[in-house]
Amino acid sequence: MKTEFKHAHSDARRRFISQGLTIAAIGSVGGLGFLSGCKDKDDDDDGQKVSPPEDLMQEHGLLNRVLLIYDTCKIHLSINENFPREMLVNAADIIRTFVEDYHEKQEENYLFPRFQKANQLTDLVQTLLQQHKAGRVLTDQITQLAKIASPVDTDNQKLLKALTDFNIMYRPHEAREDTILFPAFRKLVSRHEYDALGEEFENNEHKLFGKGGFETMVDNVANIEKTLGIYDLNLFTPKQ
Ligand SMILES: [Fe+2]
Ligand SMILES: [Fe+2]
Repeated sequence: MKTEFKHAHSDARRRFISQGLTIAAIGSVGGLGFLSGCKDKDDDDDGQKVSPPEDLMQEHGLLNRVLLIYDTCKIHLSINENFPREMLVNAADIIRTFVEDYHEKQEENYLFPRFQKANQLTDLVQTLLQQHKAGRVLTDQITQLAKIASPVDTDNQKLLKALTDFNIMYRPHEAREDTILFPAFRKLVSRHEYDALGEEFENNEHKLFGKGGFETMVDNVANIEKTLGIYDLNLFTPKQ
């Protein structure tokens, strides 16, 4: 860890506390050992399968954690502070591989066409599709800009804008899917089709990421949070 990042980090911490967002001291990055024995997210205690919307909403939880990572990097950028930019590259890679190339493909291949065929929520689906495309453009920009070894101010301003645009778009995007699209999807398909799709979602995930792929992604996100000092959930509880 760079010393300059540590100093900058403690300065940032004081500032963030006053803003209501606490950044803690850098925690140690944990290993992957505790993952052994983790259940796959697609099985609950009875061995029952997770339904398609539940699956997608768990993935939205992962996306939300990356949005918080982006928020944290934005704060560092906005006050011209060094931070480990490779963590931002890693976070954008999780967005590309797990959210864009997997989660959004599931929505595009299994959910959106059913709404279009049934002529339901078609305007919403169109907007969601456009936002998936826009998200990919932003992720390309974030990855390229975060990888610049010696960024100048204009690079950082562009990165700040790309991160801001990404978060502004994705929070309402996923909230609309959770509250409107997914509940409507349950009513759109038969019980049998709903259950079969749960199986298919699970198989697709295992093909791409192996069994326990989601848990590995969650662990990767947790490691980035630890490096950035935002892992401890207690940091976000208001002081009484
Ligand atoms: Fe989506
Ligand atoms: Fe989604």
